[in-house]
Amino acid sequence: MPETPHRKKILMCPPDYFGVDYVINPWMEGQKGRTEAREARRQWLDLKALIERQAEVLLLSPRSGLPDLVFTANAGLAGSGKFVISRFRHPERRGEETLFRDWFEAHGFRVIDPPEGLFFEGAGDALHDETRKLFWVGHGFRSDAGLAPFLEKALATRAVPLGLADPRYYHLDTCLCPLPGGFLLYYPGAFDPASRATIEAIVPDDKRVPVSAAEAADFCCNAVALGQTVILNAASPRLRDRLAQEGFVIEPTPLTEFMKAGGAAKCLTLDLYPNTP
Ligand code: ARG
Repeated sequence: MPETPHRKKILMCPPDYFGVDYVINPWMEGQKGRTEAREARRQWLDLKALIERQAEVLLLSPRSGLPDLVFTANAGLAGSGKFVISRFRHPERRGEETLFRDWFEAHGFRVIDPPEGLFFEGAGDALHDETRKLFWVGHGFRSDAGLAPFLEKALATRAVPLGLADPRYYHLDTCLCPLPGGFLLYYPGAFDPASRATIEAIVPDDKRVPVSAAEAADFCCNAVALGQTVILNAASPRLRDRLAQEGFVIEPTPLTEFMKAGGAAKCLTLDLYPNTP
């Protein structure tokens, strides 16, 4: 994998074939066939334009029959000169794996498979914390608990496993977001008690930004942080104030069409060169 460029590179996939065709998470219930293609495209283009102010966007070609391919966070996890590719839990998404593999191989990444028999859903469940030089790794709904020790070895970076306990927050990136300066935006209700205690032991109180159930349901934790800019679907006035106080610039951009499929800003992006060792 080439050296880390100074301007971030983010992978996205246009929503040409995006839709809710099946139900594999609670947000998708009752939404089959109910997404609006024009509105989805508009929202996706607005998100892309915001990201392009700070980073370069690379595109993966969309493919019919793969409506969730837009959620490139689930392609895999880049770090330490490697790319650990996803193995999806649900057969509905397995068709995406070869497209991701082809793209990453064609772009010079060394692609590594997760251990036999383990599911892994990429950067949806593994979030790099630059301040603490670790990965937060979610398990319980999609990725397997055995992933954290494997990633720790493969990426030569500490991996802290966190158990997810609420089916609406089935991927770690729906309920936790490390921010620059060591801040951690998260929804405590999404985690089992031991994992909440783990977070509290690692992240000091003044760096934790817990959000309420209502704030979490707006996908505020599914945020893309680029420098001090935090791009997200929506943030309550309270959360905006708190983040502004810490020096962040909040850029809300509606992603309601994608929330029908259970994803928002972060899910629609993949950081190709996180600052790992
Ligand atoms: N419908 C997709 C799924 O259930 C949404 C994925 C959202 N991605 C994410 N990184 N949270 O798999």
